[in-house]
Amino acid sequence: MRLKNQTAIVTGSSRGIGEAIALRLADEGANVAVCASRSIEGAEAVAAKIRDKGQEALAIKADVSLSEDVDALIKSVVDAWGKIDILVNNAGITRDNLIMRMKEDEWDAVLDVNLKGAYRCIKAVTRTMIKARTGRIINVSSVVGLMGNAGQINYAASKSGLIGVTKSAAKELASRNITVNAVAPGFIPTDMTSELTDDIAAKLIEQIPLGALGKPEDIAAAVAFLSSPDANYITGQVIVVDGGMVM
Ligand SMILES: NC(=O)c1ccc[n+]([C@@H]2O[C@H](COP(=O)([O-])OP(=O)(O)OC[C@H]3O[C@@H](n4cnc5c(N)ncnc54)[C@H](O)[C@@H]3O)[C@@H](O)[C@H]2O)c1
Repeated sequence: MRLKNQTAIVTGSSRGIGEAIALRLADEGANVAVCASRSIEGAEAVAAKIRDKGQEALAIKADVSLSEDVDALIKSVVDAWGKIDILVNNAGITRDNLIMRMKEDEWDAVLDVNLKGAYRCIKAVTRTMIKARTGRIINVSSVVGLMGNAGQINYAASKSGLIGVTKSAAKELASRNITVNAVAPGFIPTDMTSELTDDIAAKLIEQIPLGALGKPEDIAAAVAFLSSPDANYITGQVIVVDGGMVM
């Protein structure tokens, strides 16, 4: 129970990696605001699982591409619990295409959610964290942000950008005892990667020294560590959770 009495916001946590993060933070004792961009039902279902574990949970509709949603999210959590200890910027999308075919709206949509969405959330949460002189911000980047990927120029730019955001915010907020770190997952089967065929998955696994794709829970474990007092002296770092693919 490393996170007893802590409060956490996890964006895009109605499914996939975000859901695993929300459940793991609750396992560690945190009360969690579960956020969904559109349908609140998915968030409600995850919130119910958290309440079953004995922690408090809020289900909140929050599209990170809308500043008003983000501001309302922060207000709802502060109104309910009086503080925000942990922010996990997990919400993300892909709109893959080859460079020559990529439309501006595919570029803009991915940058707006994955990168600007994190900026909106960090900006909105810092006033509360600075006042409390404590905070943990964890950004979910990707190995694609470190090594690139054909067909994902927009996604790679957003995930590399998140690493720059992480390091800059870490430097800016360190004096207020707020740490900012990133996790960079490898390939994790979720709705986002559902188009991967078995053939492609088999080829990917050949490039992974640990010989398997990851699980959402593997990412959640790294996020829980960075959220906890065990990571008090770590800031501005990127933990790569990819079975050894990038080293
Ligand atoms: N699955 C992988 O292999 C992998 C690898 C590296 C990084 N990631 C990153 O992990 C994060 C979670 O991805 P996932 O694999 O669980 O995919 P997913 O598609 O299952 O989950 C993405 C979540 O983000 C939410 N979301 C999308 N647009 C949003 C918006 N505008 N506002 C708020 N929420 C929004 C979705 O509703 C969903 O809950 C993403 O940032 C993704 O880029 C995933």
